[in-house]
Amino acid sequence: MSHQDRVIYFFGATGDLAGHKIWPAIANLFVRQESFRVVAFGGKQAQSDDSFYDWLKNTLKDHPVQTEQWLEQVEFHSVDLLDPALELPIQLDAADIHIFYVALSTHIYRPLLERLRTFLPHPKCRIVLEKPIGTQLDDALDIQAHLRQLFSEDQIYRIDHYLGKWTVQNVLALRFANSIFEHQWNQKYIDHIQISIAETLGIENRAVFYDNIGALRDMVQNHLVQLLCLIAMEPPASLNPEAIRDERVKVLRALKPLVNHNVVRGQYLAGHIKGEAVPGYLESIPKGKSSNTETFIALKAEINNWRWAGVPFYLRTGKRLATKCCEIVVQFKSVPHPIFKNQAAFGSHNRLIFRLQPEESIKIEIFEQTNDNRRSVRPIQLSLDAPNFRGPNPDAYERLLLDALKGDPTLFVREDEWSEAWRWVDPVLREWGESEAPPYAYQAGTWGPTESINLLARERRTWEDPNA
Ligand code: BG6
Repeated sequence: MSHQDRVIYFFGATGDLAGHKIWPAIANLFVRQESFRVVAFGGKQAQSDDSFYDWLKNTLKDHPVQTEQWLEQVEFHSVDLLDPALELPIQLDAADIHIFYVALSTHIYRPLLERLRTFLPHPKCRIVLEKPIGTQLDDALDIQAHLRQLFSEDQIYRIDHYLGKWTVQNVLALRFANSIFEHQWNQKYIDHIQISIAETLGIENRAVFYDNIGALRDMVQNHLVQLLCLIAMEPPASLNPEAIRDERVKVLRALKPLVNHNVVRGQYLAGHIKGEAVPGYLESIPKGKSSNTETFIALKAEINNWRWAGVPFYLRTGKRLATKCCEIVVQFKSVPHPIFKNQAAFGSHNRLIFRLQPEESIKIEIFEQTNDNRRSVRPIQLSLDAPNFRGPNPDAYERLLLDALKGDPTLFVREDEWSEAWRWVDPVLREWGESEAPPYAYQAGTWGPTESINLLARERRTWEDPNA
């Protein structure tokens, strides 16, 4: 294939996400000698080719890509997608593969689709969409209806970059390539599961975007829900994309409806992160604006099926928390009859811990006899991780972009998964929309509002401390 054969039309090419994740991934692919061209569309940050190329060089200044060389493959256009008179400089050659990569605010999705209508349908096009697609269920379904006028479902790639992370994929390998876990993987042996995605960053340069979105739409409806599906799904019959997606969607369909009573939403106040003072959320959005947007969520999810009945899944995520980390903790039940004298005091320390970031690891926590007393035990951790044996591991966005170019949808979210996830969070979003009640406050640099601790305490459980 010559490099003319694959073209990415990148909308939102000068946004925050583009700078942080997408351009570095594109540059990595160029370094790996994947051949494709990029036609980038940006808005106000870059009015001319020169200012765009300067911005891009600066964005990638620490990246090993030979910028001058590969910039020849990147064409830039400054456009206003809301201008009805706009004609996009796009020419779709029938023989080529075209990817429309859309990293825009959800309110621009419909106008963009209207602009694309001129060129479509086209059998060799795919559209990759960043989340959130829509603001709540009815809006999301309406965008979906617009999409389906132009693309068939197998051309629509809804991206959730958590699905592209190596350890997330390794959950499937660990669960379904080994027989030793399957017998314990159910309500008989598992007490509960915790999934935490904690960030120390605030909302950075995304105030306007974030204030319209909040943590439930930004992190729960997609990343956390997808992690839950991978932990809870039944074994698929094969690694065929549809077989895997079929099992993920069954979990979503079995979720017990989410109720506000099981959700804690918080918003950060000023505080300290790693010794540095940081402003509160309200000081980070345009002056004088009041806002009930949540920057923290903790919730209890339950799955109504034989495997998981009665096993709570506690999910939490937040900005400006004590530490950056992403962890899935599978907490097993205690032995039915403890015979070591101090074991009851520990509770159960049989845990399987998947750590996705900052470093990737998998650990099992078990008891062993203490050195000085054969009647006592202590918890120890065994690491299943073997980073030294792994080769270079592509970043999530790099892997997903490559899959989109190749036409492999496995790590993308299918329409039914995506709409079920919306359906699950929608009643809570509606309730918040109708209420004046503000989110609970928490200080930056902590683990969120105390109500999040109470959510577990009322069931005599505690959150894992990822630093412990
Ligand atoms: C994005 C969210 O999807 O994920 C951001 O929009 C969040 O708000 C980011 O910061 C976290 O991703 P990662 O890979 O850095 O954990």
